[in-house]
Amino acid sequence: MATAAVPRAAPAVLPRHVAIIMDGNGRWAASRRMPRAMGHRAGVEAVRSVTRAARALGIEALTLYAFSSENWRRPAEEVSGLMKLLKLFIRNDLAELVRENVRLRVLGDYRRFPADVVELIDDALARTAGNSGPILAIALNYGAQAELVEAARALAVQAAAGGLDPTAIDADAIETQLETRDLPPLDLLIRTSGEQRLSNFLLWQAAYAELLFVETLWPDFGADDLAAAVDAFGQRQRRYGGL
Ligand code: FPP
Repeated sequence: MATAAVPRAAPAVLPRHVAIIMDGNGRWAASRRMPRAMGHRAGVEAVRSVTRAARALGIEALTLYAFSSENWRRPAEEVSGLMKLLKLFIRNDLAELVRENVRLRVLGDYRRFPADVVELIDDALARTAGNSGPILAIALNYGAQAELVEAARALAVQAAAGGLDPTAIDADAIETQLETRDLPPLDLLIRTSGEQRLSNFLLWQAAYAELLFVETLWPDFGADDLAAAVDAFGQRQRRYGGL
């Protein structure tokens, strides 16, 4: 006799904000003797299932590193393939995001992308701007060092204009200038594919985040892996420098 599926108990401690460095698309494809583009395509499927899973778990904000400011160094064909996938994702999934009350955000200087991609992104941002539900932030042409440089520059400009006392600049002042200023504090940062580095992603925000490096390649990362990561987060003791 079939037994009813037992729903997974809600985790005791839920991270408010989870960020993911989605790594391993190329190796996933290579292990199947497929072109790298197929790995990225499979990566989009993982984006879809993990964003749904994050919503189902009740995570307030999910930030995905889709294109770093260093990814321009990849072959032009791969870069344009990633742009195509981004466009496909917006075209196919925007209606669901709107329906699910998701607030879309973009971190990074996406205005350097081709004009048609920028137009689609702007439209997607506008159509989800009035939503009040979970945040899906996609990092596009994002680099944490550039984000911090920009924050420092903005504060310096304010100080030079006499609107800000330079000696009063503190961590809170810097946070007001970060692209994540409207997001909850970063609780959990996951990197897939066994690599253990931050690759210029959310360097400031990661100061007190729990870091989780998993061996799973991004296209294989699914709802169960996110649930396991959230469980692992619940086991961590966060002390923020205290005892
Ligand atoms: C890293 O794998 C992955 C990327 C640089 C791109 C991530 C992009 C996607 C998952 C698809 C587009 C995203 C959205 C939101 C539609 P890699 O190519 O560096 O893998 P490797 O280290 O195995 O070569």
